[in-house]
Amino acid sequence: VLAMTLCAATAFAGALEEIQKRGTLRVGMEPGYMPFELTNQKGEIIGFDVDMAKRMAKAMDVELELVSTAWDGIIPALLTDKFDIIMSGMTLTQQRNMSINFAEPYIIIGQTALVAKKHEGTITSYADLNDPKYTIGSKLGTTGEQAAKRVLGNANYISYETEQEGVLELMNGKIDAFVYDLPYNAIAYGQRGEGNMIHLDTPFTYEPLAWAVRKGDHDFLNWLNNFLFQVKNDGTYEKIYDKWFVD
Ligand code: ARG
Repeated sequence: VLAMTLCAATAFAGALEEIQKRGTLRVGMEPGYMPFELTNQKGEIIGFDVDMAKRMAKAMDVELELVSTAWDGIIPALLTDKFDIIMSGMTLTQQRNMSINFAEPYIIIGQTALVAKKHEGTITSYADLNDPKYTIGSKLGTTGEQAAKRVLGNANYISYETEQEGVLELMNGKIDAFVYDLPYNAIAYGQRGEGNMIHLDTPFTYEPLAWAVRKGDHDFLNWLNNFLFQVKNDGTYEKIYDKWFVD
């Protein structure tokens, strides 16, 4: 009985213990999603989630390792222990929550639409896009893709591997609109919007973003939620937010 108890205790050692033993926090993310994770000129991964991950590792007194992972394989990679946590602007959806656990949401966002300039005055709300004469793009495996199919199901749909590709195709006239998370679209619009596109910036979905861990790891979830409570109230979160979300 003792042996069995010990075995069970070992089997249920959570990620937090592994992180301490290893001396490294391994964070899974897919860069390309500004301002949460993006690659700079020097090839470094930077962003809101990265700064938060640095704080997290510091609070744990361990090293930080960023594990760059394709978006549509990010949940399988977590489940097969390629890293300890997903910090990648992931929307907490009920469907994803069936296979992974989420900490408390750290920000609320929603889907918006970048629309080709030629439709200015004609397409004035996301709902106008729900028409077979239009083609919408979003990114593979994201809530943008889900929203495009669910809410704008009458339109044609094209899936892109990266956010950047979708926005470029909008500029090239290949698609009429690009549906994606508000923070990303706001920055993309700021960078290339003028004269090329309009941003219908009223979100039409409600999406909490949250850090994800493997199921049943209560120790780790407890740590994460208390860490979030701390940084949200001691000025740390605000400082990082202000750095990445201008105006
Ligand atoms: N919030 C969206 C989702 O969960 C998109 C997140 C994309 N994140 C990224 N790092 N590429 O589906």
